[in-house]
Amino acid sequence: MEFYQTEADKQRLERQIGRATQSVNAVKDIVAQGRFRQGYHLMPPAYWMNDPNGFIYYKGRYHLFYQHNPYSAVWANMHWGHASSEDLVHWIHHPIALAPSEPYDTCFRGGCYSGSSVVAKEKLIIMYTANLVEHGVQTQKQCLAWSDDGIHFSKYHNNPVIDCPKELDAANFRDPKIWKHGDLWYCVVASRINGDACCAIFRSTDLIQWEYKGVLVRGEGKLGSMWECPDFFPLEDKYVLQFSPMNLGVYKTVYLVGDMDYDTCRFTWKTKGEIDAGFDFYGPQTMQAPDGRRIMIGWQNAWDWMPWFSSFGAAPMENWCGCMSIPREITLGQDDSLQFKPVDEIKLLRNSAQDFGLLKCAEGVKQSLIVGDNVHFELNLDIDLHQTNADSLQIHIRHSDFEDTLIQLDFKNQVLTFDRSHSDFCMKGTMTRPLSLNSDVNLSLNLFSDTSSIELFVGDTLCMDCAVFAENKSNELFFESFGGDTILNAYGWQMPRNKKYRTTNI
Ligand code: FRU
Repeated sequence: MEFYQTEADKQRLERQIGRATQSVNAVKDIVAQGRFRQGYHLMPPAYWMNDPNGFIYYKGRYHLFYQHNPYSAVWANMHWGHASSEDLVHWIHHPIALAPSEPYDTCFRGGCYSGSSVVAKEKLIIMYTANLVEHGVQTQKQCLAWSDDGIHFSKYHNNPVIDCPKELDAANFRDPKIWKHGDLWYCVVASRINGDACCAIFRSTDLIQWEYKGVLVRGEGKLGSMWECPDFFPLEDKYVLQFSPMNLGVYKTVYLVGDMDYDTCRFTWKTKGEIDAGFDFYGPQTMQAPDGRRIMIGWQNAWDWMPWFSSFGAAPMENWCGCMSIPREITLGQDDSLQFKPVDEIKLLRNSAQDFGLLKCAEGVKQSLIVGDNVHFELNLDIDLHQTNADSLQIHIRHSDFEDTLIQLDFKNQVLTFDRSHSDFCMKGTMTRPLSLNSDVNLSLNLFSDTSSIELFVGDTLCMDCAVFAENKSNELFFESFGGDTILNAYGWQMPRNKKYRTTNI
């Protein structure tokens, strides 16, 4: 593994990063004052953010890179933004890590697309997709960059390192995820084979020379037209492949659980599930924490090609767009389904605990709660299904005379609906999913409200992330029971209102 760079290469990249940094610096103080900026979800210092990239623990810190346009709050001209944290919840912004600087990755409708990172010989190595559109033809190739400090990167002098194999689609060949198994490096790349979504797999001894090992698994026409941002990782004695499918109706994050055969480089799966059922959660990436936990973070937004998309909301008016979800810990359930919960570190952000005790939400009575400022808060509900005889419970949140977000638990028909039809002036619609209930077990709801989003964890397996650009004065929270009473315990905490993440050299 030989990495070096010439002075000219170094200067070219530094020049592009310098220009991008100036652009971000010119507005970041204004963005920090924005009315809709998030209180505690990680967002860019300014302008556009999409997928998490290169999520890793390196030299004592969690590093999170992300797709970033440092020139405007719309998608274009992809760079890699960079933040790091000791605990997954207090972040520091670092200088932009990667900028388009070479003929193979410089393109306004392209640039340095999503990818991942690994640590090898103490270096942090990134693999990203270089996306070019030349004379109307799009090509995607995989490239390397490396760093000795986790902050300043150089591109590998002999990029690209992986060209698209002939049987795959060179216009859709992106988002490499690398890992090590035994003494060898592996990498999966999303692509298409004869129009069918698939994941290609490559193997290497040195991260530079990659051998194509064929198709790890394909969708057989049933799982969308392209799997963006694939991630492949071991969980207990199983392997998980997760991806964001294009053209799969309301599903935008799917996981498959099964077995990996390293001799044949093929993955066979039995269990399929959805990672997040909200309007806004895409391209999640996972990493393994030093204590062994598998941690996932996702982009809390949607693409304009999705069936329910109506707009990016109020953020672009304030010179930013996009933020990250709360990091989640993933575990394997008994039936091989995935289980999700917010990382324990989120508790570090809690303030002013409130124990509301046992509440009876009686039929027809509006039961109001005040949790901190009712805008930035965490609320835990433990619903006693044995005592509850209501047909449904409605939770109204970020409510005022002119706005309302509604979470409806329909106990009778076992359905949960997230309704943001009246949440704000631009983002409409409802999302509905089955609600599995067992009257011997309490139903737990963990709800996070931030200035411009709501994140909901229901039991172990259902998560919903939704952007909600409600005004801060829309801060009423109340419950209403229908067809009977709902019995629950409630606990709440104030969460940070305006967390200013420190920036280094930016
Ligand atoms: C997914 C995605 C990736 C691509 C990146 C470009 O959100 O389309 O497939 O690498 O965004 O920003």
